[in-house]
Amino acid sequence: MNKQPLLEKLQLGPIELNNRVVMAPMTRSRANNSEKAPFDIHEEYYRQRASAGLIISEGSQISTKAVGYINTPGIHTAAQVEGWKKVTQAVHEEGGKIFIQLWHVGRMSHPDFHGGELPHAPSAINPHSKSFTPQGFKETVTPKEMTIEEIKHTILDYQNAAKNAMEAGFDGVEIHSSNGYLLHQFFNKTSNIRKNEYGGSIENRAKILFEVIDAIKEVMPEDRIGVRLNPSLHGIFGMIMDEETIPTFDYIIEKLNDYNLAYLHLSEPFNDVSDIPHAVTQIAHRYRPVYKGTMIINASFDQEKGSQYILEGLADAVAYGKPFISNPDLVERFAENAPLAEWDTNTFYTPGEKGFTDYPKLSVSKSI
Ligand SMILES: Cc1cc2nc3c(=O)[nH]c(=O)nc-3n(C[C@H](O)[C@H](O)[C@H](O)COP(=O)(O)O)c2cc1C
Repeated sequence: MNKQPLLEKLQLGPIELNNRVVMAPMTRSRANNSEKAPFDIHEEYYRQRASAGLIISEGSQISTKAVGYINTPGIHTAAQVEGWKKVTQAVHEEGGKIFIQLWHVGRMSHPDFHGGELPHAPSAINPHSKSFTPQGFKETVTPKEMTIEEIKHTILDYQNAAKNAMEAGFDGVEIHSSNGYLLHQFFNKTSNIRKNEYGGSIENRAKILFEVIDAIKEVMPEDRIGVRLNPSLHGIFGMIMDEETIPTFDYIIEKLNDYNLAYLHLSEPFNDVSDIPHAVTQIAHRYRPVYKGTMIINASFDQEKGSQYILEGLADAVAYGKPFISNPDLVERFAENAPLAEWDTNTFYTPGEKGFTDYPKLSVSKSI
């Protein structure tokens, strides 16, 4: 019998992945220490999932200004680098590969995280969403429009975070430019009404992403940089699509061909956007012919649909999120066509081991 397409090896720039099952980046809010550094349970959590062809870490803030949720880890201090070193070592010991997701939430934050100061964003537009603060969920506020100097400084924060990621032993970095966070806020006209070089035209709204890539590739190989985009995001994380949203993503994705990136990671729509004007309902179908490099696809895939997308050439690898929370051995389960365990949404973001490192592997489940 032929090997399942998901279990075939994949060359990702200089890195060989053991299979095409990618663990999607997932915030788990377990860094409940003053350093906001990963510690023992992170090491254990990622080690348990190291049979993924590639792990993309939870979103990790590039600076103190980048934070928007409690207990998320960072990659901007020495203590955080030390914490991540243990994680990367554990994953490598198990034969796995791991990229870190570099994150800046922009306006999806709250003054409580910034000593009372406003969160930064392309424009002073409230996303009318919620921020998960130390005092529980709070309404977001109208953020501060970033000055050009603050934008340039933030680009350097991405560069510094990438440098730290290399020191921490990551195989690469993923630039989080999706899901309504800072870079995505620059792309959309409804969140970016700037009149200067970072606003107005499609090229200007996309510009920051390319400046971030250019800055990062000064400190690490270009073929170890991934980019995540979620073009048809509407009605969640404060994002609203308009007639220029998809043309903006068309432009970005075409231009990413000028780079020799590790991969482009795309999300299919998170919700039903079939009635939303200007949305695209089938992202892989639209962008596979456009993007010439390695493409990862995500959102609501199961084993069968993932195999099908790879067989049809719609993607090179498939990222699974929630299934990896409750199935640390997702790859082994796919290999054996075994049933999957259900995830518990109540423990997605709660501190400690429960719902984090206590989901059993199949061999353990079988013997119970
Ligand atoms: C608990 C949780 C945390 C998440 N955190 C992140 C994150 O930090 N960065 C990111 O890009 N996406 C994040 N996502 C989105 C996932 O990467 C993925 O796109 C989503 O879960 C859909 O894939 P799935 O249907 O396979 O779960 C998160 C999703 C969940 C469920």
